[in-house]
Amino acid sequence: MCGLVGYTGKRSVVDILISALGRLEYRGYDSAGIAINQNNELIVDKSKGLLINLQKKLAGQKYEATSGIGHTRWATHGEPNEQNAHPHISQNGHIALIHNGIIENFGKLKASMSDILFKSETDTEVVVQLLGKQITTKSDGNHILRVISEVCQQLRGAYAFGIMVAHIPDKIFFAKKGSPLIIGCGKEENFIASDIPAVLPYTNKVIYVKDNELGVISPNKISIYDFKLQLKNNIIKDINLSPQQVLRGNYSTFMEKEIAQGSYAMINTITNLIKGKILQKIPLAKITDFSNIHIVACGTALHAGMIAKFLIERECRMSVSLDFASEFRYKKPIINKKSLCLFISQSGETADTLASLELAKKQGAYCLAITNVLGCRISQIADYVIYTCAGPEIAVASTKAYVAQITALYCFIERFAKVNDIKIKYDKQEIARLAKKLEDWSTVLEWKNLIPQMCQQESLYFIGRGLDYYLAMEGALKLKEISYIHCEAFAGGELKHGSLALITADSLVIVLLTQKELIDKTLNAIHEIRSRGARVILITQFTYLKNQVDFIITLPAVKDILMPFVAIKPLQELAFLCAKHKGLDPDKPRNLAKSVTVE
Ligand code: F6R
Repeated sequence: MCGLVGYTGKRSVVDILISALGRLEYRGYDSAGIAINQNNELIVDKSKGLLINLQKKLAGQKYEATSGIGHTRWATHGEPNEQNAHPHISQNGHIALIHNGIIENFGKLKASMSDILFKSETDTEVVVQLLGKQITTKSDGNHILRVISEVCQQLRGAYAFGIMVAHIPDKIFFAKKGSPLIIGCGKEENFIASDIPAVLPYTNKVIYVKDNELGVISPNKISIYDFKLQLKNNIIKDINLSPQQVLRGNYSTFMEKEIAQGSYAMINTITNLIKGKILQKIPLAKITDFSNIHIVACGTALHAGMIAKFLIERECRMSVSLDFASEFRYKKPIINKKSLCLFISQSGETADTLASLELAKKQGAYCLAITNVLGCRISQIADYVIYTCAGPEIAVASTKAYVAQITALYCFIERFAKVNDIKIKYDKQEIARLAKKLEDWSTVLEWKNLIPQMCQQESLYFIGRGLDYYLAMEGALKLKEISYIHCEAFAGGELKHGSLALITADSLVIVLLTQKELIDKTLNAIHEIRSRGARVILITQFTYLKNQVDFIITLPAVKDILMPFVAIKPLQELAFLCAKHKGLDPDKPRNLAKSVTVE
């Protein structure tokens, strides 16, 4: 949510800011803006809606500035319009500020500044006005840092700030607590950004700014301090990513590319686990000597967690509790020093997952994070991190990251079983072989004729049992998220307990059936549905069932326990095809952001 970027160097800054914001578009936004420093004067341009609107506004302007800040805003306080878009400017026009996060005590701070005429409804403007009260045209860099530190210490909430001061044109100030912020280290140029793709075309060297740090960049210098203004070491990391990895390439959308990259995500994740002996490094006592296991996540990551819960319970015979992070953090969970808690998050920034992790840590649990983003906030707090290696996921709807999450979870459970002397039905080499087998397999052609009629439905229903139920939930989430068709997933056995009332002769129901032991039971549900006149699309490897349904999507047959890796692809492809058919952009669903950094 919100993309933030800052540049100081020798190049023309406007193009750099716009293209960097373009690479952060995936985070979700509804307005955009920049502030540049031209001859010691701050020039601000903002637009509602897509970045292209801002670009149009800037077209024809001949700016020569070589430093500036830019922002894409996802509205929290105040509607998406130009006034509320960032950057915000202090009343004296001397300071410009961009912000990613939420200032919780902004109301109280605002009330204390009766002399200020606030121009926006945002929480952010309070911060720039507080700075503006103390930073004058005479302030030097040290004084500015001191003021930023003092103001930050008055704030409650989360923030990453980029700040420009009119009379110091080549410097960008920053501060961070709770929201992501990196510094891109270039040659005679430096950047700040909320994520790596923003800076990738210019540099692979980054510094992860930590919480409660602030500092300043100029073209040739980076200085980072704690809030007491003690200088910190700059730990520069080389990022092993090419700019191509964050481009669409020959695909029409990122989502299409990322669905196709599912096998790559599986192989990369397994290779990394094996090469780095990642699972062997988890202290043995932590996976043998515990009293309870919790899995906590949101959305798609939670659906991956459901599969893990099922496998640990089914294969290892240990009970697992699973919660939405937004529920876990408020339910006073039963956690102690012998609890093992697993937090799954692609972005590693999700506010509820983060808060749940902090809570579990505080109560002494051993916390394992499964995340896709190197150095993310969750990775900094957890006791141990298992990275999924799906590569950057740009489309808002999670696809390859889900596949990588279940890969990491299957591998973790294999290790978990091994150290507890439990024999299970698969190993990671089989998963790697399966990934190869799935590389060129797609169901796009099988779906093609069905898509127009599916897009006409007011509601679509997904059903399944066991592992298939968890997949049904993920299929329904993906489809509703990007096609805006109402979808619901039901556990096959639950139909009769209420949901069957929704099924009419006009209904279209997608049934998942990948587990041999459940064929008869799921067929019962299919008969119940079809006897109401509804049509059934069956996703299965059991092709002999085709006469019992209206349409069939055929899956390659592999061991039942590994079928989630297979069955997820047609569900992702279905969602993608429906969005395309309806003329929607699958990469940027309305109202949604890639990383949900607020509650
Ligand atoms: C759905 C989707 C979301 C995320 C959820 C958690 O396609 O992407 O449901 O899975 O917001 O995000 P992370 O995994 O970043 O914590």
